[in-house]
Order: sequence, then structure tokens, then C-alpha cells
Amino acid sequence: MDLILRNARLPDGQQGVDIGIRGDRIVAVQPALDATATEVIDVAGRLVSPPFVDAHFHMDATLSLGLPRLNESGTLLEGIALWGELKPDLTVEAIAKRAMAYCDMAVAQGLLSIRSHVDVCDDRLLAVDALLDVKQRVAPYLDLQLVAFPQDGLLRSPTAKRNLVRALDAGVDVVGGIPHFERTMADGAESIRWLCELAAERGLRVDMHCDESDDPLSRHIETLAAETVRTGLQGRVTGSHLTSMHSMDNYYVSKLLPLIAEAGVHAIANPLINITLQGRHDTYPKRRGMTRVPELMDAGVNVAFGHDCVMDPWYGMGSGDMLEVASMGLHVAQMTSATGVQRAFDAVTVNAARVLGLDDYGIAPGRRADLVVLQAADPFEAIRLKATRLAVIRSGKVIASTPEKQTALRLPGRPDHVSLEFTPGSLA
Ligand code: FE2
Repeated sequence: MDLILRNARLPDGQQGVDIGIRGDRIVAVQPALDATATEVIDVAGRLVSPPFVDAHFHMDATLSLGLPRLNESGTLLEGIALWGELKPDLTVEAIAKRAMAYCDMAVAQGLLSIRSHVDVCDDRLLAVDALLDVKQRVAPYLDLQLVAFPQDGLLRSPTAKRNLVRALDAGVDVVGGIPHFERTMADGAESIRWLCELAAERGLRVDMHCDESDDPLSRHIETLAAETVRTGLQGRVTGSHLTSMHSMDNYYVSKLLPLIAEAGVHAIANPLINITLQGRHDTYPKRRGMTRVPELMDAGVNVAFGHDCVMDPWYGMGSGDMLEVASMGLHVAQMTSATGVQRAFDAVTVNAARVLGLDDYGIAPGRRADLVVLQAADPFEAIRLKATRLAVIRSGKVIASTPEKQTALRLPGRPDHVSLEFTPGSLA
């Protein structure tokens, strides 16, 4: 074999597992693998996970923080206005340069698949050209899936329909939308119909920004689920954000959840962004604004967490760390039980991979050898520590590594070094 990882712990709790890799494939996952390899890495019982997957991002805007100015109010609407101010000065080169820099950060964090929305409301489609180029350049080490996103509204922006089709013709993968941003509820519903029919005709997936609002009457997810069934797109449609569900009446939600589940619509929450952008019209109590994650999961809906933004007009923080996203998600949703934390880890790995339709994903013989070795014992500790990515492996090759984190201590009578890793119960 070319590479063997010895003594790994897997996200499902299996321990003492060896992972054998030949070429770009995983060929064995078992204890005490009786084989030799060109390279052997002893991971010493630490967590080996399939890579992180970001199901919702905006790579055309990332790392543009401060251009042309900062978002003073921190609101969604000032962010959209700021993006509008930046658009005339955008160039293909600058967008691509920032996107490539972000992909480097992502790889360092073990984030090897990203679904990015790309704004198609600029008639020049510069961002589409830039990100299609970036998609090709990063393909050997990062899967970049692009969504044609009519940021200014499909019906509201006069050339959005034409531009969206042009973007798909150019090679953009997924049909996007923003029904709550259209002028009326009726226009929102009409945009969903048009977009689902387009996706069905072309055999594409759909991912709409849907009900990103605190308005409990923003119910486009209902239409999206119904249109998914009508156009036969079950399993291929995603509702992103769904923040209005946070504020909806419980009785209505009890009818809505089974509809979403039956339609096989995936849901994406963006915890870092939802907790900062929603609730802005509230005094106190202030709503959290994230969609009903555990309730959606209990209803059988596949839920992923996305990063949404990193250092752009909407959000100045972030570093491509999906463990930070998972951590915020479990805090906001109060998913602090052992099961809840495991579900939060799934939301940035396997659930997100399902949203993107990544067939080759996971730690099993025959799958592509994409793995992350974390300085943590299990998913719980990985999220707690935002654990160091000791090694990031793509197609069987180590493409990024970070030294183990350890701090030298200078305290009399205490150990020389301290790590934040800790086995529960070990000091009983
Ligand atoms: Fe978004």
C-alpha cells in the first residue's frame, strides 16, 4: 500500500482502526491491518474524520472585508447595500485571487468540499467567470460546487432570469433563488415555481436562500417543498437559512416539518451568520434567529451547517473552521447532549456531503482517500477545542499539516507542558 494510518478513532466511535490507502483510494478499514506501506502514520488513537464540507458559502465576496468600507450597522441589508457598492469595482482577477486565498485556508482547516453561491445579478457575470476558473484550478484538492444566486431577486432584478440561465450554460452547477427578497409573497412563490421547473428540465439541484428573515409569515419553504414534489426533485432541493421558522407559530410548524421531510428537502442553518444577523429588530428578549435544527432532524430532514461568510460585507469574522461553525450551531440550538454534539459534527461532515451529493465521501473501502487527522479523541473534543488539523489528506496524499498544539508551562511543581486535550473521568 502507499499509506497506512494506524490506530485511528473514527467519528462513529470505532477505535483502534487502521486505514489502508492505495493510490487515491481507501482499500481497507479494519483493526490490526496486516500490510506494509511506503508511509505509515501512527495517529495514536486520535480522531480521523472524513473532510469537513461547507454546504453554504459565498466565495465571490469572501476576504473582501473593508472594501470599499466596513458594515457599520452589521445588518443583512447594509451588507447587501455594501456588496452593491463593491460590485462596480470588482474584477475577475481580484475575485479569483481572494477565492484562491480562501481555498488555501480551507485546505489548512481540512475543509475539502464547498458549495458556494455566486451572484448572477451583475450583467458582466465577472464572479461566475472567476469562480468557474477557480473551481477548475482547485479541483485536484477541493470540490467547489457553484450555485447561480440571484442576490437582487429573480423577478425584482430585471436581467436576473437571463443571467441565471447564462451562468448555468457556462457551467454553474446548481439553481439558486431568494424568494423572500422578491417584492411580494406571490412573486416569491412565482420565482420558486420558475426555478424548480428550470432545474427539473436541466436535471440540476436547487439551493435557495429561503426565508432568511425573522418574519414568522415568511413561509416560502412551504412552497419550495410543494414545488419539489410537483417537479419530481425530491432529494435534490435545499432550503438555506430558513430562519423565519425560528419565529413561526408551533402549530403551523407541526404541519410544515412533515411536509419538508416528505419532499426530501435538505435544510441548511448558518449558525454564525444567523445568530448575528437575525433578531436585529428586537429589543429584549432578542431572538436567536436560527432555524429549528433538532426539530428538523427529529422529523427526518437532513440538516447541514454552513459557514456562509468569512470576512465579507456581512460578517467580518471566520477562518474556514467548520468546527467553529458546529460549535456555534450546537450552542444556539442547545444541542449540548452527547447525541446533540455528535449531530452537530455530522452537520459539518456527512450531512453536508449529502446536500452536495458527494458519492465518493466517507471512510470506507472504495471511497476516495480524503481524510483529516485531528488533535482530539473524538467529535466532542474536536468541537470543544476547534482541534488542530494534524494532517489533511486528499486522494491519498498529505496536502496540509499543522504541528501538534502544546504549550510550555513554567510553573514550579507542575508539568513542563500542557495540552488542552482531556479524557473525561481521568482525574477521578
Ligand atoms: Fe448565504
